[in-house]
Amino acid sequence: MNSNKVVISGKEIRKKFIEFFSEKHGHRVVKSSSLIPDNPTVLLTTAGMLQFVPIFLGYEKPTDPPRAVSVQKCARAGGKDSDIENVGRTPRHHTFFEMLGNFSFGDYFKSEIIPWAWEFITEDLKLDKSSLWITVYETDDEAFAIWRDKVGVSEDRIIRKGKKDNFWGPPGPSGPCGPCSEIHFDFGEQYSCGPDCHISNCECDRFVEIWNLVFMELNQDEEGKITPLEKKNVDTGMGLERITMVMNGVASTFETDLLLPILQQVAQMSGKTYKENPKTDISLRIITDHARCVTFLIADGLKPGNEGRNYVLRMILRRALRHGKLLGIELPFLHNLVDVIVENYGEAYPELVENKDKIKDIVKKEEERFRQTIERGEGLLNEIIATAQKQESKVISGEDAFKLYDTFGFPLELTVEIADEQGVAVDVQGYTKAMAEQKERAKSAHQAVSLTDKLLYVEIMNKLGQTDFIGYNQLKSDNNKVIALVENGKQIEVFEEEYIDIILDKTPFYAESGGQVGDTGIIKSDNFEAKVINTVKVEGLFIHKAQVLAGKISVGEVINAEVDEARRKEITIHHTTAHLMQSALRKVLGDGVAQAGSMVEPDRTRFDFSFDRGMTPDEIKQVEQLINGWICDNIQRETAEMSIDEAKQAGAIALFDEKYGDKVRVVSLGEVSKELCGGTHACSTGDIRVCKITSESAIAAGTRRIEAVCGNEAVKYLNSHSEELEKIAKSMKAPTTEVFARIQKMTDDIRQMQKKLKDLEAELAAGKVSDVAKNAIDIDGGKLLVERIDGLNADLLKQTVEQIADKLGESIVVFASVNEDKISIIAKVSNDFMTKGINAGKIVNEVASDCGGKGGGRPNFAQAGAKDPTNLDKALLYLKSTLA
Ligand code: SER
Repeated sequence: MNSNKVVISGKEIRKKFIEFFSEKHGHRVVKSSSLIPDNPTVLLTTAGMLQFVPIFLGYEKPTDPPRAVSVQKCARAGGKDSDIENVGRTPRHHTFFEMLGNFSFGDYFKSEIIPWAWEFITEDLKLDKSSLWITVYETDDEAFAIWRDKVGVSEDRIIRKGKKDNFWGPPGPSGPCGPCSEIHFDFGEQYSCGPDCHISNCECDRFVEIWNLVFMELNQDEEGKITPLEKKNVDTGMGLERITMVMNGVASTFETDLLLPILQQVAQMSGKTYKENPKTDISLRIITDHARCVTFLIADGLKPGNEGRNYVLRMILRRALRHGKLLGIELPFLHNLVDVIVENYGEAYPELVENKDKIKDIVKKEEERFRQTIERGEGLLNEIIATAQKQESKVISGEDAFKLYDTFGFPLELTVEIADEQGVAVDVQGYTKAMAEQKERAKSAHQAVSLTDKLLYVEIMNKLGQTDFIGYNQLKSDNNKVIALVENGKQIEVFEEEYIDIILDKTPFYAESGGQVGDTGIIKSDNFEAKVINTVKVEGLFIHKAQVLAGKISVGEVINAEVDEARRKEITIHHTTAHLMQSALRKVLGDGVAQAGSMVEPDRTRFDFSFDRGMTPDEIKQVEQLINGWICDNIQRETAEMSIDEAKQAGAIALFDEKYGDKVRVVSLGEVSKELCGGTHACSTGDIRVCKITSESAIAAGTRRIEAVCGNEAVKYLNSHSEELEKIAKSMKAPTTEVFARIQKMTDDIRQMQKKLKDLEAELAAGKVSDVAKNAIDIDGGKLLVERIDGLNADLLKQTVEQIADKLGESIVVFASVNEDKISIIAKVSNDFMTKGINAGKIVNEVASDCGGKGGGRPNFAQAGAKDPTNLDKALLYLKSTLA
């Protein structure tokens, strides 16, 4: 094996690392954060630095002292940093791993961390120096010099690499990042993949990156713009599994003391022997890795589901199960691995011990679900694959892949993997599109009931009758009977899991209709308690979409139903506001205004209406004033049932394409409003207290949308605006009444200053220009000047080139400038040179193409643009050498 003879266990390495940085170098020991990060832009915790992002960005105070050490639980599965495709297929990739890391928050930097890292691995871990290689970022001369001069690594073992290899971060769409230097372990020539195998060009298993030292000094924003951080920081990360592999003297992380006991148990369960069959080995490794990841994720509170992080967990879990099936292990089996994992890791991570039973339970339930999935979906999947195999393109359509997911619960990644094994690809883009389309459909339909479910509900209603809605006048009732339970499109008798549809004989819960959202609240009995997340209806059947919090619910049981009163009250006043809105719009804009839709929620009213132009600010104000006037009048609301003809005669407004029954409900607000409506309303307009219009916009040709808030929400809205204004006034040290004038003055001042700055920049650049003219060198037939002056825009650069070329006479002048992330390159070639075959167009094109751009122009004058300045200096140097 490798030349390292000292065998140290993973557990000991954890300890040594912490001791080295805390005791020897005064770091604060920080606990691993959860695998579920606070940062919503990152799916899972992918690195040790994640919990410190607010410190690096300067939002939070550094630790005291400002240097920390940790062993962080990390998961790289799903999302930008996923390693899942490699897991099992390489000897060292994982979905879950531990990262040993030390961090400096504006404290020490390169000159300290580089020697320390070397000291730890060569003295504390006693790694053989001749097995180590160093990489640094290609322009990082400082790190290079520290490795060479301060540490004593010979130059030929320090390799410079580009952005792909030696620049780290940001961990999400934006955040801290920086150049890095890595330490690699060389397993020796006997592991090389060929004669050219070398650290500088090879990613085979001979070399393994063990430690990444990131010099965290930059910040990248969402648009990719990079700016320096206020302080220079350090973030290092060493994969515990990898360093343990080296220290255990084995060639795979799966054979370390951290993972081998799990792998052995998987092998035993499957009756297979590790290292007998490469294909079987992949499945053994996948199950080992995934079981560990699943155990840690659930211990941190994650549950399998269909969105975001929960989906990632489901996907990993199901992938492990499928590989179990490939090995011939009977489902369920994965939960039986939890014991060995907890045994191996429980001491370092007590959360595993605390949650062991819960983890087993959740894994087992998901295994049961997946067994049903496989049983139901496998036939269809095989059929789809067989059809694809017959086609020339051998591709499974996005819709088919989506159907497998939506109907049978096959995660996309699983379909891709299974199809790939049979030489068939999957249209992943088509899948994403089908998923987006379904979400859109679900949103616009405003109901959480699928078509197949609808048929079932109609059947139930035909058998058991319509639900009696008792919620106009009461929000609580205590003798409602459970008459049906539906889970995943199937009627059941008893339920004790999580999500369930509950149908009652009567209910105070209002079901989503007529633009008013459904009620939420609680349904409970002595045996159980459930949270109603939404109430919807199919025909006359009310469906309580509920999440069981505790216990068991059974058909026939009598329960208490309690609507969330505060929320209903807010919904109610927003609904009455929608009626006032319609009347006010008609008064201000004319009777031609017709309702085109509405949405009433606890925190807003949205009213769509036909009108062929945008409203003026004055019209909006008038509408708002009318509504607030009616609120002050405290008009009593009245409701009456009558025939549709009577209602029309009474002048009630009905929605054009709405279907109404024989009897309709008419809601009146004195002389102000009379509408056909089944929704819930305030007793009198005074309950609304205040209304504020928040926006008016177009949603389609001839259709406008106006939005408003009222009651508590309006007070919140107005308060937040006045608080903002006060904050601005305070920061400007001006009374609120003067803020606007001050801002206007400031804007003028800034404009003037910007102009002055531009003039100054131009003057400065012009100064530089006359200086650089001196750099022209003599070549055969005239002068050559190739220069880079940053900070000039293309126009200024052009003028400069013209001026200098005039001054130099027969000459070739090439200028490049990096300005606001753009590179401009301009070349001018005088006539004599041009007739000798020198072409300005070719010159700029060559330079630009080295910098990811292009351009061209006439042979005597040409201009090009590019974006990546990494190779600009090299390209100019090369150009100079070819022309001189
Ligand atoms: N953030 C770096 C990494 O994840 C070093 O900790 O590799």
